[in-house]
Amino acid sequence: MSFSVMSQNSIPNTFGIAATADCYKVVGHEDELRAMLADPALIEKPCLILGGGSNMVFTRHFPGTIIHLENKGVRLVEVQGDDLFVEAAAGEVWDDFVRYCISQGWHGLENLVAIPGTVGAAPVQNVGAYGMEAKDVIHSVRAYELGTGVEHVFSNDECRFGYRDSIFKHELKGKYVVGSVLFRLHRTFAPNIRYKALSDALSSAGITNPTPLQLADTIAEVRWSKLPRPEETGSAGSFFKNPIVSAEHYERLKADYPDIVAYPVADGYKLAAGWLIERAGWKGRTLGRCGVYEKQALVLVNRGKCTGADVIALADAITDDIQTRFGVTLEKEAIII
Ligand code: EPU
Repeated sequence: MSFSVMSQNSIPNTFGIAATADCYKVVGHEDELRAMLADPALIEKPCLILGGGSNMVFTRHFPGTIIHLENKGVRLVEVQGDDLFVEAAAGEVWDDFVRYCISQGWHGLENLVAIPGTVGAAPVQNVGAYGMEAKDVIHSVRAYELGTGVEHVFSNDECRFGYRDSIFKHELKGKYVVGSVLFRLHRTFAPNIRYKALSDALSSAGITNPTPLQLADTIAEVRWSKLPRPEETGSAGSFFKNPIVSAEHYERLKADYPDIVAYPVADGYKLAAGWLIERAGWKGRTLGRCGVYEKQALVLVNRGKCTGADVIALADAITDDIQTRFGVTLEKEAIII
């Protein structure tokens, strides 16, 4: 299954925005990637690495090179007791990889099933869903330096993972390209069913001890009941991050809005941005050719021939409104190009 929606000139992005660049290259092999990156001329202009284009919004012509990674390969590298070290090429489709691991009896990725995008994007964005994040299973990341092609293996700690965040979005942005990811998986299956929407779905299906496949299939069902399928409706998944506010700020909001959805975190409370946006009346609304998805207000969708400018206009209007109503600053999860 591929999640890419081809734009008019074939630069894939799941929002389905027609995107252009000075130069667009598809790379099918890691050696080819390394050779391309070794060319110092590459860093004279901006360079963008594209996996599935599932988290990007193109708002302008890209004045440089877009490298679309399609290198493939998954292999079991080492077994240490219960631990299985599995390497996957950056260009593998994430969901195909997750499903393949389940079919092999390699456990630990089940909760991340059905996330659009590629393996190479997972550490950059530290993708997460249903009670886990990619960082929980990533052992290390092999990346190549732009302009030299020199290889570096980043340990999990060195990746400095955070909520939808890593070093590849900060200090190393535009400097390294992920070639492959090494995952630490397990022979033993220990289902993680703490996420409420997930435990509810399992109990209403009468499942108490899910098999890996039952767990993955239930998660995929919960996911697709709320999120648009990329092959049907253009979007970039969650457009905003769930904002974190101080405990005092949360208490004030809770007093005004007793049904606010929030989760305690180390430095305060994480608010459900979808709840804030819905409460502000945006769910299902459309501005220009971009809309707020009817079933999940965190997702902005393409209502047909949507441009990057349409997306930004709607995102800015929502951000301003949430700031005014709740005093909360929404941050974009999607990467704006
Ligand atoms: N909610 C609303 N209205 C909405 C949406 C959500 O009131 O329109 C409230 C509901 O009470 C719901 C709660 O918010 O129970 C949480 O909603 P949900 O379970 O859908 O999770 P989320 O916090 O909105 C995050 C991730 C998703 C991930 C889900 C499930 C972010 C930015 N988003 O959404 O990730 O699938 O949790 O784990 O953290 C993505 O990144 O593209 C993505 C889809």
